[in-house]
Amino acid sequence: MQAIITDNLSKQYTDNKNAVDHISLTLDQGEVFGFLGPNGAGKTTTVKLLNGMLIPSEGSCQVFGMDPAQIPENIHALSGVVTEHAQMYDNLTGLENLIFYGSIFGVNTSESKVRAAALLKQLDLVTAKDQKLSTYSTGMRQRLSLARALIHHPKILFLDEPTSGLDPESAQNVNQFIRNLAKENGITVFLCTHQLRYAQEICTRYGLMEEGKLLALGTLEQLRSNIVSDITVRIKSSYFPEWLPHKQIGKLDFEVTVQLEEEIPHIIKQLVEAGSNIYQVVAKHPSLEDIYFALTAKQKEVTQ
Ligand SMILES: Nc1ncnc2c1ncn2[C@@H]1O[C@H](COP(=O)(O)OP(=O)(O)O)[C@@H](O)[C@H]1O
Ligand SMILES: [Mg+2]
Repeated sequence: MQAIITDNLSKQYTDNKNAVDHISLTLDQGEVFGFLGPNGAGKTTTVKLLNGMLIPSEGSCQVFGMDPAQIPENIHALSGVVTEHAQMYDNLTGLENLIFYGSIFGVNTSESKVRAAALLKQLDLVTAKDQKLSTYSTGMRQRLSLARALIHHPKILFLDEPTSGLDPESAQNVNQFIRNLAKENGITVFLCTHQLRYAQEICTRYGLMEEGKLLALGTLEQLRSNIVSDITVRIKSSYFPEWLPHKQIGKLDFEVTVQLEEEIPHIIKQLVEAGSNIYQVVAKHPSLEDIYFALTAKQKEVTQ
């Protein structure tokens, strides 16, 4: 069964504009899906629709075959949600917060304690577990909020801008943790972020959003081949013949653009045959950022 199916899912708040505009996508179980776009793109609204916190204006969605608008409590039992401003209790300790949220999801105290101990260890919060939440740093709160969302063994985890406030080292650990959730436990992850570089580190597939619309959907390889396939090859060499197309970057640094990796050895062979000494060759594939910018620029050309 698919983890998520949306069919022309749309949400209009008060004005005439769709905050989420006819989105159709399907997520398999175990995917780490990156739902990407700038502020206002419609990511949080989509998460709310998928969790039954909002009712679609048009279209529909299903989470593990169930309609969140009809039976939100069934969705809550199998989904965990981490938002930017997670609601937890400052006057309770980290562990008490987890046990409290466990009880809300029907997990008894002894079971919650076992689950909490494992999560606190994985998220590097063991030494802070008996401290009041008010003493936690932003990064610690974020990690506890992740533990809270997982206390009832959800099958799907929604992460809405989860890394704001994490220092780079914690972010690395959290990334690893999220990847393992999917790989080892088969949990589906729906990650919303405006940080494309961050998403590229952990996601297996992407949906690129702008102003409520889904502009593109696919793996990084698929997006590259459909949107920007340019590979930039930076070559450090003693000499670059004029007849071979290139851009000079520095005294010995040159750049060429190719469409296929197979073209690279051919260029290097031509350079060597022309008597050049090669010191370094670095190929850079388009990043998610490059793809997003190319896509939105194209979009503007179409609409103007
Ligand atoms: N409760 C609301 N009432 C009216 N408009 C809203 C509300 N929530 C969000 N919006 C608008 O809907 C659009 C999408 O917002 P949102 O889903 O929060 O985007 P994102 O999470 O990608 O930043 C924005 O234009 C935002 O201003
Ligand atoms: Mg948002």
